[in-house]
Amino acid sequence: MIKSEMVEADTSSHPLCLGVNIDHIATLRNARGGQDPDPVLAAHVAANSGADSITVHLREDRRHIRDRDIERLKDQLTLPLNMEMACTVEMVEIAKVILPSTVCLVPEKREELTTEGGLDLVTHKDRLFPMVQELKSSGIKVTGFIDPNIDQIETAKEMELDSVELHTGVYCDGGAIVKKQELVKIKKSALLATKYGLKCHAGHGLNFDNVVAVAQIIEISELNIGHFLICDAVFSGLGSSVSRMKDIITEARSSLT
Ligand code: PXP
Repeated sequence: MIKSEMVEADTSSHPLCLGVNIDHIATLRNARGGQDPDPVLAAHVAANSGADSITVHLREDRRHIRDRDIERLKDQLTLPLNMEMACTVEMVEIAKVILPSTVCLVPEKREELTTEGGLDLVTHKDRLFPMVQELKSSGIKVTGFIDPNIDQIETAKEMELDSVELHTGVYCDGGAIVKKQELVKIKKSALLATKYGLKCHAGHGLNFDNVVAVAQIIEISELNIGHFLICDAVFSGLGSSVSRMKDIITEARSSLT
């Protein structure tokens, strides 16, 4: 966006919400098999620090967030809960019991490290449409996580989705030229989505640097960010944890004399 447009835009009527994805707190917890760190505690910290919603991805293999985490989040959280999930009968049944505020439908492959691309609504429209309707009739808002592509937006509208989440992964991982091209696609997609009355979210791979250009797209109303925040939290907190441990062991040893 050029500077003059930024100045003229009425940003007060276009708030930008931050959804914090806490999956990787659970990844750390599961690495040891115990209770720590607790993703529910992480959700409270995020809520107290300005997060507008909490996002979790209940994967079919339960590699990070588990069913019990979602139940506890639903019981304890006052913020909206956004549940990312594959388009399967099992997940639809779980969502209908948990009743998150929003479900974000994502493609899921067991062998992938993270969600690698958007859901192809165009190809899977007929299979997905009844699931979308079933979730909506339970009072859950439904988002489709899609690549920034006009055909996908058209199909999202036909499928009566409430919102779309634009995959920013290619933008985030690309070099300067790809970034520029992807940003154009993201802007065009966001504009068309809102023209059709769909809420437009975005996420994947965002960090302190690359988030700025995406946050300046006025049609985008929510960003979902996870991995980078958990990585940054390690380094903004590790120093104070080490100092505290050093103080504790020094004090323990000196109290012997
Ligand atoms: N949005 C969706 C649909 C995702 O699948 C993910 C990754 O779980 C994110 C946002 C967050 O991506 P990241 O962890 O890279 O910030």
